[in-house]
Amino acid sequence: MNEKFVITGGKPLSGTVSISGAKNAAVAILPATILAKGVCTIENLPQISDVRLLLNILKELGAKIEVIDTASGSIRIDTSEVNTCHATSQLMTRLRASYYFVGAFLGLCNEAEALLPGGCAIGKRPIDLHIKGFEALGAKVEIENASLFASAKELNGADIYLDQASVGATINIMFAACMANGRTTITNAAKEPHVVDVANFLNRMGANIRGAGTDTIRIRGVKKMHGCSYSVIPDQIEAGTFMLAAAATKGDVIVQNLIPVHMEALTTKLIEMGVGIVRGDDYIRVFNDRRPKAVNIKTLVYPGYPTDLQQPACVFLSIAEGTSTILETIFESRFKYVEELRKMGANITVTDRLATIKGVPQLKGTSVRATDLRAGAALIIAGLMAEGETQIYDIGYIDRGYDHIEDKLLALGADIRRTKVEDNEDDHLEYIY
Ligand code: UD1
Repeated sequence: MNEKFVITGGKPLSGTVSISGAKNAAVAILPATILAKGVCTIENLPQISDVRLLLNILKELGAKIEVIDTASGSIRIDTSEVNTCHATSQLMTRLRASYYFVGAFLGLCNEAEALLPGGCAIGKRPIDLHIKGFEALGAKVEIENASLFASAKELNGADIYLDQASVGATINIMFAACMANGRTTITNAAKEPHVVDVANFLNRMGANIRGAGTDTIRIRGVKKMHGCSYSVIPDQIEAGTFMLAAAATKGDVIVQNLIPVHMEALTTKLIEMGVGIVRGDDYIRVFNDRRPKAVNIKTLVYPGYPTDLQQPACVFLSIAEGTSTILETIFESRFKYVEELRKMGANITVTDRLATIKGVPQLKGTSVRATDLRAGAALIIAGLMAEGETQIYDIGYIDRGYDHIEDKLLALGADIRRTKVEDNEDDHLEYIY
């Protein structure tokens, strides 16, 4: 069903919120379970619609899925009867991460067919680097009628240089290379925490991967992989969203079950804005009682400031004292939400990849539309700090990546409710998890 959020702003968030498992790790780990041809038990799996889509795709491929415990996000996935290398379900087109089936199928059976992925429209989002990697390993890759076909007699390790440190390409190449003959080196690899988490998961399944988290990843091909138990790391972006929401509502929130070092780029920016921060072992307390100081942000690959926290930061800076700038260097069209923020009274101009944000004293509630996942989360923050009522439409985007976001916000004292708008295709998705 199609739903909207109705938020009455002006309530400072306070209390403790616990962060769920990382979306971008989970959406790679699920397709990778087919490499095991066995049973994997995954814990701390976020309850988000992208995970639900992938579980449905796995089930269509022949995997057996058993939910052990929703509270801890534990699921058992048995892929021993997945006897196909063709992922042709239309569900594949509904998310970005479905491209991980290509690397996983190639790694498992030297062959793959997959419908091309969907996901948030935040730029061109090509997959040429994934393909370049598969080809370097010896695969022939063709794209025809929105499907990708890849096949190889055998995969042989290779030295692969990525022109951009792409998260998706790094992970997909790791999948394909795990059981290739010999050694593969990925140079200029992505270093994001979820890349490290996925490498750790693959190693737990028997792979031999070294260097994840640096810009050179070395993979020595193994003959076979096996099932394992694994707990997904906390979501860096969900944590950052709550940290910004706490600051934006002049609240005082302990964001717990996060890895503080993953948050450094945001934490230092918040301190620069004048926000109070206390770092613990697995939590960060964020407290604030004023408009932020204007700052300049440039999105970068990890450990730089993450592009996925660009929109939530822009919302907070829309009420800054002074003029801030945000330079988006990762995706070319990630400022669509600015139009929605302007409806709420923000004074932001965008020239190419640069947003110039002239702080206003306060945003005002109105009806807005989520234009993608992180933009949707940003609009929630806008609604929470605005005067009056905000209605956010197209919240299906937000559900793709945030686990029970309104319940977590309600527990922190927010005035937010989800109401129905009309039916849509989500009703036809089996509610496995
Ligand atoms: C992933 C994340 C997304 C995050 C992004 C950057 C998932 C499911 N999504 O997206 O939340 O915003 O990382 O941290 O994990 N590029 C190419 N050719 C390619 C691949 C990428 O030119 O073959 C470019 C992209 O257009 C973009 C840049 O490289 O400009 C980074 O993209 P990438 O890191 O691959 O992002 P995604 O994996 O799509």
